[in-house]
Amino acid sequence: MAASSFVVLALSGLNITFGKPLLLPLIGPEAFAGWSQWAKYGHNYLSFPFTLAVVLILLMWIAWNLPAKGDLDWVKRGGGVVGNDHPPAGRFNMGQKLIYWIVVLGGGAVAVTGYLLLFPFYATDIADMQLAQSIHGIVALLFVAAMLGHIYIGTMGMEGAFEAMSTGEVDLNWAKQHHSQWVAQELGKGRGATPPRGARPAE
Ligand code: HEM
Repeated sequence: MAASSFVVLALSGLNITFGKPLLLPLIGPEAFAGWSQWAKYGHNYLSFPFTLAVVLILLMWIAWNLPAKGDLDWVKRGGGVVGNDHPPAGRFNMGQKLIYWIVVLGGGAVAVTGYLLLFPFYATDIADMQLAQSIHGIVALLFVAAMLGHIYIGTMGMEGAFEAMSTGEVDLNWAKQHHSQWVAQELGKGRGATPPRGARPAE
């Protein structure tokens, strides 16, 4: 829900900012007007499932995304990006925690400013509207840039990450390599031969 509504919101939002100079000359006024009208409906209505998804993400995973012992070491070793290093990590490593907070805080900021734009002048005057629009546009652009990096790592950049997202489970050996502290914790609870249940890995 979060990913698919985000993609529509990003494309339709970028169309509001850049569509006229970039897309209109390519596809002409008729096509641009038709597409922009649908994009605007998409942007307005998909804001609701997107907001719900951000709230669910906040509530479901906050306990796993607070600072923990080992986070700093993970950062010092660059997350093991270079070479064959696998710094130990809990259920979420520091990079995943960073994405979590970008989604929660960035999503929260675009939601609040977006609803101010969607329902103009109920809680705002003209200066607040201008501020809301600037914050919405700037945070949205940074958010899209961060998500491009995130999508790369989640698909091509790391083996197993996309399957993990679609099935909700990871291979035990993969978990041992990438989330060794979490595996140790789960094994300590007596979860042995089968992969840990409730495994919710590499978002
Ligand atoms: C709860 C979520 C959101 C709501 C309620 C919302 C609402 C709005 C509204 C009402 C506008 C102004 C449209 C217009 O001028 O006709 C807008 C513009 C825009 N939105 Fe959103 N939006 C949301 C989420 C997002 C997200 C997630 C992104 C990008 C990832 C995004 C990107 C943009 C951009 C780039 C603009 C154009 C800013 C400008 O150039 O003025 N929005 N949004």
